[in-house]
Amino acid sequence: MINRRQFLQIAGAGAAGFLTGGMSSLVDKEKAYAAGQADSGFTPDLEIALKATPAEIPILPGDPTGVWRYQGQVLKGDRASLVNLERSYLGPVIRTHRGQKVRIRFTNDIADKTIVHWHGLHVPADMDGHPRLVIPKGETYVYEFEIRNRAGTYWYHPHPHGLTGPQVYGGLAGLFLVSDDEEKAAGLPSGEYDIPLVLQDRAFDRSNQLIYLSGQRMEQMNGFLGDWILVNGHPDFSLPVATRAYRLRLLNGSNSRIYRLAWQDGKPLTVIGTDGGLLEKPVQRRYVMLGPGERLELWADFSSYAVGSETALVSLPFDGGMMGGGRMGRGMMGGGGYVLPNGAQFPVFKVKVNRREKATLTLPQRLSTIKRYDPAEAVNRQYPKRFHLVMRHMAWTINGRTFQMEATAPDERVQMDSMEVWEFINEGGGGRGMMGGMNMPHPIHLHGKQFQVLRRSGVMHEGYVDEGWKDTVLLMPGERIKILVKFGDYPGLFLYHCHNLEHEDMGMMRNYLVEGSPASV
Ligand code: C2O
Ligand code: CU
Ligand code: CU
Repeated sequence: MINRRQFLQIAGAGAAGFLTGGMSSLVDKEKAYAAGQADSGFTPDLEIALKATPAEIPILPGDPTGVWRYQGQVLKGDRASLVNLERSYLGPVIRTHRGQKVRIRFTNDIADKTIVHWHGLHVPADMDGHPRLVIPKGETYVYEFEIRNRAGTYWYHPHPHGLTGPQVYGGLAGLFLVSDDEEKAAGLPSGEYDIPLVLQDRAFDRSNQLIYLSGQRMEQMNGFLGDWILVNGHPDFSLPVATRAYRLRLLNGSNSRIYRLAWQDGKPLTVIGTDGGLLEKPVQRRYVMLGPGERLELWADFSSYAVGSETALVSLPFDGGMMGGGRMGRGMMGGGGYVLPNGAQFPVFKVKVNRREKATLTLPQRLSTIKRYDPAEAVNRQYPKRFHLVMRHMAWTINGRTFQMEATAPDERVQMDSMEVWEFINEGGGGRGMMGGMNMPHPIHLHGKQFQVLRRSGVMHEGYVDEGWKDTVLLMPGERIKILVKFGDYPGLFLYHCHNLEHEDMGMMRNYLVEGSPASV
């Protein structure tokens, strides 16, 4: 058991190995560039001050919990652009509109270096929160970008190399919502009927302080799994609803936990959106898999429920593919083990129908327009780039490689404006000797782009929603996936990585470089 101070120290100690030395002049130049934009004619519609800061917040009954949290303030523009979640360590929900110009002044007020990444947003390389752009305590990084994404549920979180896991775990995360005219025309529940739900797991010691990894390699290989399921930062979360339709925006903000979501009463889920916004039309699933970093939007209609009735969103059991079959923890964690291994069954949150309201909305049959990419346009259609998710020397890797701050291999360079097929293969192998054949789920994420799923193959699991725009895709053991990515208009260095944050921190992350010069305006 560790207390908050020790937690902060442990998290801090991790920094030493990764962030010392070699702050290149490139970094300084980019920072100057980022900050200098203020004088270069960028006029924001919305300007926000955002700060990462230590705080104490009541989570469990009794002592408050030491956390880090993002705090925000609107400096210019609509005050409703920031919505604080009640009594939550989560950062404010940032609400924006497509086409808006946004400036965010991010100040680091925690001891470790950090930087903010806008997960899912299509922004220039120096606005993307790459780990080379980390700032120490007391410094400010100025982000300026135009919202070019479709309406959807995006999010933000820290991205310092080697410390993303502990910083997100410590509380640094928030939603970033984009709206647009197409979404407004779809006729979806809005206002108080449009509900963000951030799913995370945590572990607490006896004085209610967060417990993270003990530092053992095997634990990091599996990833962190807590025994408390929090929704929007609250344990035992319960959602009061009226007898009508809701839009539920789900984010898996957990470090490593995968959810296999279903309604407790067996009704199918009606999915209306994925990482990159609304689907063309609603789809139904008996259950959905939601890996770390992924989002899903549900249409949830409670109009046939009686006032006073209850249901729940649950996570159904599945083979979590943990190393050592999920039992690894027992010996390794000093007898505790994972109370809730990946794949355990548990309720996520309750829904309590507490009042009658006349339902007026019906499920739209058309939600948005998605132009399907034509695989024939991919420059490497015959030779997809293959990325094997394998273990090497007790580390999770991509093609045997681990993260290097500014390095790219030849197969990690792409031409601006070109479309490519990338294939991710999670079939184990690579690790010889004692770890041979080890295989785990890996949620794979690309920065800066929304992509389309061309095909899944190998072991065919169900519960994926591949119909829409994606920035993160879950690969269970034995699966492969081909995606179509268009490396549109922003040149520079972006990341792709496993969004199991412990895997990411141990180096299951690489750069890709978009080569080309920006189109002149
Ligand atoms: Cu959600 Cu590289 O991040
Ligand atoms: Cu991202
Ligand atoms: Cu992984």
